[in-house]
This record gives sequence, C-alpha cells and structure tokens, in this order.
Amino acid sequence: MISDLFAKKPLAMMLEEMKGENRLRRVLGPVMLTSLGVGAVIGTGIFVLTGVAAHDRAGPALILSFAVSGMACVFAALCYAEFASMAPVAGSAYTYAYATLGELFAWIIGWDLVLEYAVGASTVAHGWSAHFQDLLKTLGIYIPLAFSGAPFDFNPSNGSFLVTGTFFDLPAIIITAIITVILVIGIKESATINATIVIIKVAIVLFVIILGIQYINPENWKPFAPFGYSGLSFFGHPILGSAGPGGIPVGMLAGAAIIFFAYIGFDSISTHAEEARRPKRDVPIGIIASLIICTVLYIAVSAILTGMVPYDKIDINAPVSNAFGQVGLTWAQRLIDVGAIAGITSVLLVMMLSQARVLLAMARDGMVPIGFFGDVHPKFRTPWKSTILTGLFVGTMAAFLPLRVLADMTNIGTLLAFVIVCTAVLIMRKTHPNAERPFRAPLVPLIPILGILTCLMLMFSLQVENWWRLIIWLLIGFVIYFSYSRKHSIMARVRRGEVQAFPDVPQAK
Ligand code: ALA
Repeated sequence: MISDLFAKKPLAMMLEEMKGENRLRRVLGPVMLTSLGVGAVIGTGIFVLTGVAAHDRAGPALILSFAVSGMACVFAALCYAEFASMAPVAGSAYTYAYATLGELFAWIIGWDLVLEYAVGASTVAHGWSAHFQDLLKTLGIYIPLAFSGAPFDFNPSNGSFLVTGTFFDLPAIIITAIITVILVIGIKESATINATIVIIKVAIVLFVIILGIQYINPENWKPFAPFGYSGLSFFGHPILGSAGPGGIPVGMLAGAAIIFFAYIGFDSISTHAEEARRPKRDVPIGIIASLIICTVLYIAVSAILTGMVPYDKIDINAPVSNAFGQVGLTWAQRLIDVGAIAGITSVLLVMMLSQARVLLAMARDGMVPIGFFGDVHPKFRTPWKSTILTGLFVGTMAAFLPLRVLADMTNIGTLLAFVIVCTAVLIMRKTHPNAERPFRAPLVPLIPILGILTCLMLMFSLQVENWWRLIIWLLIGFVIYFSYSRKHSIMARVRRGEVQAFPDVPQAK
C-alpha cells in the first residue's frame, strides 16, 4: 500500500527503545559542542581540495567560493537544527526523517548518507595520504609510484580520464585499516582528546594565516576570477558562464561546489544532542558557531594561498603546505603537514564512526539485516561487523578512485541530504504546525527555500557525471528497499502485529 511507504516511526517508540540503552550524561556546553563541530569539519577540504578548486575551477575567486558555500551551509544548518530538535533522540538525519517524513524518505536519506560518510571518508583518507607523502618527500623519502595514488585520474585540461601509472594508494589503505581497528576495539570518545586535536588544527590554520600573510604578492590575485564568477550548468549545459574542457563547469560557483566538502561534518553536532546540557539552545549555537569560525578561517586561508602562489602553480595534492615549500620555508611545510595529518585523522575517525552509527540505527529499524549490521561485539561493545565492512568499503574506494571523483560524489550526496532536510522543515511546518519545536529556524519559509536553492545551485555546478552516478546510486538503493527493507522494517512488523504497536502507529486496515 502506498501509505505504508510513508509510515512514520512514532517518537514514543524511539524514546521507549532508548530506555534500554545507557543514557548519556548531559555534560556538553556550547564551547564543547562548537569544538566538536570544528573537529569534524576542518580537514581534507581546506588542506587538499583548495588546490583543485583554485587551480582548475576558480583561481583566486576561490575566496568568494568559500563564502557562497558557507552561506548554503548556514541555511541548511538552521533547518537541520530544527529538524533535529523535533526528534531529540540520538541519531542522524536518517532517524529524524523516519519520525517526520516516513519510511521511504528515511531510507533515501540513510542510503544517501553512505555517500556523505563512507565515500567522504575515502576522500579524507586520500587527503591524509597526500599529506603523509608530502611530509615524507620533505625528508627525502618517496613511496614507490606504484603505491602512491589511484590508478587513474581526471584530466581537467581536456576533460578526459588519464592513466596515472600507479596501482593503488597504499598510505590511504593503511590509515583506513588503523582507524577501523581503533573503531572496532572502541575508543572512549574523549572530549579532551578531541579538544586537543581541535586546538592543534586551529593553531596550524592560524599559523598558515599569520606566517603566510608576509609572503603574499598581490599580483597573484590578478586576474581575480580567471574562470569567471559562474559555473552554473544544468545537466552539463552551461546556464550562466561557460564550461571548461570536456563540458566541466568552471568559475567561482564551480569552485564553491567543490570546496563545499570543506564544510561537511557540522551536522555531526546534532548527533550529540543527547549529551548537551541545554540542547535547545546549545546545539544550534554549536552548529552556527562552528560554521562561522570555519568560514572565516577558510576565507583567510584561501586568500593567503592564492596570494602566495599564482593559481596555476598551486599544488593539487597538498596545496597549503606546499605553498610554504614554494617560498623556501621547508620547516613550515613540514609543520603544516604534521598538523594536517593530525587534523585529517580526527575527521576520518568521525566519518567512519558516523557511518557505523547510521547503519546500526537502520539495522535496529530492520532496514538492513540486523544480524550483520546490528551485531555488537561481546567484548568491545561496538558494531564490529558494520565497522569492518565500512573500513573495507572506504579502503577500497580510497585505494582505487581518484580524490576529485570521490569528493564530487560526497558533495552531491550531502547536498541532496541537505535539500531533503530543508524541504522537510517546510513540509512539517504545514502538516504539523503545532508540533513541539524546541528550536525554530528563523524566517521560515525564506531560510529553507534559500537552503534548497543554494544547495541545488551547488549540485548543478558539479560535473554532470555526478548526477548520473547519484541517480544510479539511488536506483540501487530503491532495489534494496523494495526487495528487503520494506518487508523487514520495524513499521512493517508493527503492521503485521509482530511488535507492540503504539497509540499513534497506523494500524493495518
Ligand atoms: N569537512 C571535512 C573535511 O574537509 C569532511 O575533511
């Protein structure tokens, strides 16, 4: 029945389920929440992707790209905060969607989040590898070419793929394996360790800004937008501005679509809502504050980078640290590499952990097999099977697929999730006007509409191939949903009377 597709999991049921789990202590204030956000955000985006974005798509106008992308995230973040506050249980957009939009949308978001977390983690692992190799290079050590990267890459000068002469990215595989083991054994998530890594990361970024400012040559900012200010296209056809070789959108907006990756991760703050002292006030503060801090730092770093090195000479593997090598400061290059490696490691950890958490939540709802994805290790108390599967997926993708392809895929998937979240806020205001909303996004419907439009604009500024990949990914998801999840889901079992129904659960007719 069609209405079954939109069956919503009642909040009462979620709260009931949570009683069996250990309640988390409410210890996090706004500063800690902001620090968690910054910890999950600053990583491969700023330290690596700025290279491709400036070199191939935007030039110095990358500074504006960061502002545009940051704005899209603020709109989405406000909606995210409202959505999360309505279903205040531990979880992610997937859980909120099940409570508010129904099963099919919950599945779409859960499936789509694999792109954000697992494919995102593969991108981050590549970034880790790039910095690790850059650091080794400054010490005169070279990883054999065959094990230094993906076997093929995208050639922006003619829009085709090229063979790189390598087999796979060995350092990316090694770091993914290490993180997988750590996650299986289970670390006590320590706010102190996170805070220390955040301080190191922010200190390195400030170091880049303070030292780099002295090496700026304003001539490098001319021309400011060598690829123009646009980049908007519709399935490969330029709407505003012109396309680059191979029909790739280029320009300031196209740069924004790539470096959107740098902002991904702020949504992880809402997964800590249960541990927040005053979630209603502090979770939105944490989300917005970490976004603002990152936006300011990102704009400053991109101004320094494009001011230090002509945009077409910017390294695409480790652009920020390499810029200091280019002006003869090898010691600074090494220091930035070490800071970037530490910072990127923490992002990788958060992304792989988030993937396993989402899979666990989906398994508990019967969307994916509970025997596998919900199996908690008897000794370590972690979802070890899904963590290992995530590790295998991330390691394989990172080993064989190029960074640019992975980053674009992560972006289009995450942007789609943001579009759904913004739309959900609009729908819920109409369908459930009186539902309790501890946090209300301001200026509704303006903010959600702006969120939808800016995220769609960024999606359209990506290469058209990403749309086809996204559509194929979603079609695979539908096959799994209709052949497995729909029959095994918790709401299907409620309808069959196999589990206890709650008063607001629609009964089988
Ligand atoms: N925003 C995260 C990063 O840039 C995913 O690494």
